[in-house]
Amino acid sequence: MNIVILAAGQGQRMRSALPKVMQRLAGKPMLQHVLETALSISPKTAPLVVIGHGAPLVSQFLMTFAEQNKATLKLATKIDTVLQAKQNGTGHALLQALPKLNPAVPTLVLYGDVPLISPSTLKRLIQLADGVAGQDSALALLTQDMVDPQGYGRIMRNSAGEVTAIVEEKDATRQQRTIQEINTGMMVLPSQHLKHWLKALKASNAQGEYYLTDVIAMAVKDGVPIRTTQATNVWETLGVNDRAQLAALERIAQQEIASNLLSNGVSLADPTRLDVRGKLTCGQDVFIDIGCVFEGDVSLATGVQVGPNCVLRNTQVGKRVIIQAFSHLDGAIISDDCSIGPYARLRPGANLANDVHIGNFVEVKNSQLGAHSKANHLAYVGDATVGKRVNIGAGTITCNYDGVSKHQTIIEDDVFIGSDTQLVAPVKVGRGATLGAGTTLTKDAPANQLTVSRTKQVSVPWQRPEKKVLAKKKLSSKGKK
Ligand code: UD1
Ligand code: MG
Repeated sequence: MNIVILAAGQGQRMRSALPKVMQRLAGKPMLQHVLETALSISPKTAPLVVIGHGAPLVSQFLMTFAEQNKATLKLATKIDTVLQAKQNGTGHALLQALPKLNPAVPTLVLYGDVPLISPSTLKRLIQLADGVAGQDSALALLTQDMVDPQGYGRIMRNSAGEVTAIVEEKDATRQQRTIQEINTGMMVLPSQHLKHWLKALKASNAQGEYYLTDVIAMAVKDGVPIRTTQATNVWETLGVNDRAQLAALERIAQQEIASNLLSNGVSLADPTRLDVRGKLTCGQDVFIDIGCVFEGDVSLATGVQVGPNCVLRNTQVGKRVIIQAFSHLDGAIISDDCSIGPYARLRPGANLANDVHIGNFVEVKNSQLGAHSKANHLAYVGDATVGKRVNIGAGTITCNYDGVSKHQTIIEDDVFIGSDTQLVAPVKVGRGATLGAGTTLTKDAPANQLTVSRTKQVSVPWQRPEKKVLAKKKLSSKGKK
């Protein structure tokens, strides 16, 4: 099979500098959704993407996508592109792809702006074109009955119910516009006819474009059977032409993600207040409170609880971890039984062993913390290796940056760091050491000793000055009494 994805259009109605197919839905460009679906139904077919508007950006994206998915894509598969320099319509777009298509196998046409089409619906469409034993292969068309068909091409049928043509809305008569069966754009075409059909297209229509939809009437004329089927869910066929449609489709995509999570045994406080912009993998009995956003690849192991309004990006969370409200986790690895937040921030390279506690207003970046260690309040731990059972007091800061380079802090097992301590890196705190509150550590602290740097405490007699205005006010209020 050939698979062609039409993705050259500008998407004027989006009013964006970005090519339409690069607009994100559930965290991924719309084109990526279509590519992933294409590869899932036919992993050995190299999809051919017709690019045009914003071609450098789109082809850069395709290269990165292929690179990132090298392992899962079969060696025989690469993503090929063809340039449609001027966007003269969907028929013109497919014509550009023609030289790269194998005429001996059917061609599946997908749209870069119809992102939620499901693999099962497409498989059904492909089977329909194949036909059953004794039948000729056909042109298979995915149509949809829509309550509000506005904006779509309408399917014309004769009195016998056979498809005769597709009429675009802008070319349709008032009566034709009342037809509720629409063209989703997705079709499987018999490739041997394509050269003849596509070259015969005319642009004499309301939009002055070469419509791919005009090949339907040509197929009828050539006696090619046309069979239609509809998608399992209407939303699979919704196209995105403007931001309102994109926002509406985003909600549908999120609803689908939420209902899949629920049926896989995840508890959601409110399925309508969850956003997954990437891939979220959950173990058993995971609970997610309202307002959480998951980006990139996130995994939550068995028994994890995520409090309200947390953001988790590219993060792995171990069993029974509790993440409390308003925590922001990015690029972190969290082992079993940790407790995070509320208001914690874990940045890339934060790697927590079992039973680590990170409390409110604590930021951890590029640092390992050993088992049972705690930083419960107001701390910055950056570029540090922290041992086991370490207690990091409130207000502790690793001064890791000298304005040019980052330096390491090493804190060995069983260290106790008093509040408001600055560790000026590179520096090392030996096993079992105690740092007194307020210490500015500039040299290594020896094991098992108390190290403290602090100015001596003095007390002198002192009369605190009073503000003059305040003094007057006091007098006048006395006068009133
Ligand atoms: C198209 C169909 C319409 C259908 C609707 C479904 C035609 C003429 N019309 O209309 O019947 O109901 O989709 O969503 O086919 N593209 C190119 N090159 C071009 C023009 C478009 O690659 O020159 C690509 C676009 O990037 C997009 C797709 O083709 O991915 C559809 O184009 P769009 O302009 O959105 O067509 P619609 O007006 O939605
Ligand atoms: Mg469209």
